Amino acid sequence: MPYTVQGVVARAKGEPVSLETIHVPDPGPGEAVVNVQACGVCHTDLHYREGGINDEFPFLLGHEAAGVVEAVGEGVTEVAPGDYVILNWRAVCGECRACRRGRPWYCFNTHNATQRMTLEDGTPLTPALGIGAFIEKTLVAAGQCTKVDRQAPATAAGLLGCGVMAGIGAAINTGAVTRGDSVAVIGCGGVGDAAVHGARLAGATKIIAVDVDDRKLGWAKEFGATHTINSRDADPVEAIRELTGGNGADVVIEAVGRPETYRQAFYARDLAGTVVLVGVPTPEMTVELPLLDVFGRGGALKSSWYGDCLPSRDFPMLIDLYLQGRLDLDRFVSETIGLGDVEEAFAKMHRGEVLRSVVVL
Ligand SMILES: NC(=O)c1ccc[n+]([C@@H]2O[C@H](COP(=O)([O-])OP(=O)(O)OC[C@H]3O[C@@H](n4cnc5c(N)ncnc54)[C@H](O)[C@@H]3O)[C@@H](O)[C@H]2O)c1
Ligand SMILES: [Zn+2]
Ligand SMILES: [Zn+2]
Repeated sequence: MPYTVQGVVARAKGEPVSLETIHVPDPGPGEAVVNVQACGVCHTDLHYREGGINDEFPFLLGHEAAGVVEAVGEGVTEVAPGDYVILNWRAVCGECRACRRGRPWYCFNTHNATQRMTLEDGTPLTPALGIGAFIEKTLVAAGQCTKVDRQAPATAAGLLGCGVMAGIGAAINTGAVTRGDSVAVIGCGGVGDAAVHGARLAGATKIIAVDVDDRKLGWAKEFGATHTINSRDADPVEAIRELTGGNGADVVIEAVGRPETYRQAFYARDLAGTVVLVGVPTPEMTVELPLLDVFGRGGALKSSWYGDCLPSRDFPMLIDLYLQGRLDLDRFVSETIGLGDVEEAFAKMHRGEVLRSVVVL
């Protein structure tokens, strides 16, 4: 029987989100309905509400979630009702050219549920990142569900569904940070702090956190930053070079998504170093760089989608590290809130008061 539940919807560009009654169909072939237990508020949800991703309003927001599978459709074998899962927004297809080359984290054909969740009047909703998890029950493709150890509470586990995985993966997978590296992270929100934490996990010896907000820099230290720079007070490129023997960092991770911070990342890395762009820009942004510098500085300029993660490989592994006390997911949770508090959580995010507000259902 289809479900009628409450969910958080962005109806129009820039307008406050509202709690709406939503119809969730029974899972069809290859689909699953999941009882959402917790879902973090990510900056990307705000990007959606502001029309920065696309114009396919109304959006069902929320995409950083964990919960329990309620029902599965025909042909689903990877999960079963009762499984404890983290939702992922890159269910790999196994068949595209990236998958066939053995690089499924680049999958060019990731899939979502085929049926649509709708408002009461039948208007189809666009789920954020193909998930939509600020809702009591959500419909996803079964491949978007990754089973993990249920000892990890949903408030912590759900974070791996987006921002924290994006940050850790930007450091470990995309940036390939390893023992002894110097790493700089520009922008220390949930994603940037996860990159700081990931760099520490990978054995980086110098981890430089850059932000415009001293409170954020204080938190970055708790996640493992060895040095902090407030780029309102100092030129971050000069400061990073000074801290790295005049050279720049081996890996610089941009976790803001703006041209000026990308440029800082470009010049704050050592020769032959790596820049990882994990912050999401908006469509009108451009960046201009001397081509001779792009050539002459060598190294790699990379983008990181979802931390180049492979959910089936990375989620259970990171949950194990969490349960061993080596990955502090709880520290990212600034507050737990209800479904009706998402708009206020956006305001707190905007004011820099929180790393993650997590909706608990
Ligand atoms: N690539 C991915 O797969 C992926 C996944 C999730 C989120 N994101 C993106 O990552 C970015 C960060 O997300 P978040 O949830 O951490 O957001 P956030 O708002 O919590 O953090 C952004 C941080 O950047 C800082 N900042 C702003 N301007 C700055 C500047 N000029 N210099 C230095 N710091 C500055 C802010 O003070 C804040 O601490 C967003 O663009 C988000 O959309 C990307
Ligand atoms: Zn694929
Ligand atoms: Zn996100």
